[in-house]
Amino acid sequence: MALREIRKKGDEILEKVCKEVKVFDERLWILLDDMYDTMTDSDGVGLAAPQVGILKRVAVIDIGEGKIELINPVIVSEEGTQNGSEGCLSVPGVYGEVERPQKVTVEAQDRNGNKFTVTGEDLLARALCHEIEHMDGKLFLERVTEFLE
Ligand code: NI
Repeated sequence: MALREIRKKGDEILEKVCKEVKVFDERLWILLDDMYDTMTDSDGVGLAAPQVGILKRVAVIDIGEGKIELINPVIVSEEGTQNGSEGCLSVPGVYGEVERPQKVTVEAQDRNGNKFTVTGEDLLARALCHEIEHMDGKLFLERVTEFLE
C-alpha cells in the first residue's frame, strides 16, 4: 500500500487541464493502485489524478459498491437533476449543495486500455461528474449554491 500526498485547494496543479492517457503500462497501474489506497485511507468516494499531482485523465471511484477505474472518461449522456451535499478531499472540511444530473453515462477505458461504459445514478452520477471535472481543472466549489455547516 502506497499513499500519495493529496494536493489541496490553492495548489495550481488542481487548476490545470489533464492530458489523455495513451500508454497503459505498469506505471499507470501503480498510479491507480496508489490512488485507490490514498482515497480509501482518507474515507473518500472518488479521487482524480491531479489530486495526487499527476496531470492525467485518470480517476478512481468507490461509493461502497466496488472499485471503478476510469481512464480518459467522457460523459456521453445526462438525465434529470439532483441536489445534494458534496465535498472533496482537496478541500477538507468544506461541504456545499451542488446540482448534478440524476443519471449519467460515461465512456472510459480500463487499466488495459479496453473501452467500457458505466451508467451511474444518484451518488455515483455525482461522483462521476465531480471526478471528471477535476480533469479539466475544476473544483466543485464553483458549482456550490449554498455552503453547509
Ligand atoms: Ni474532488
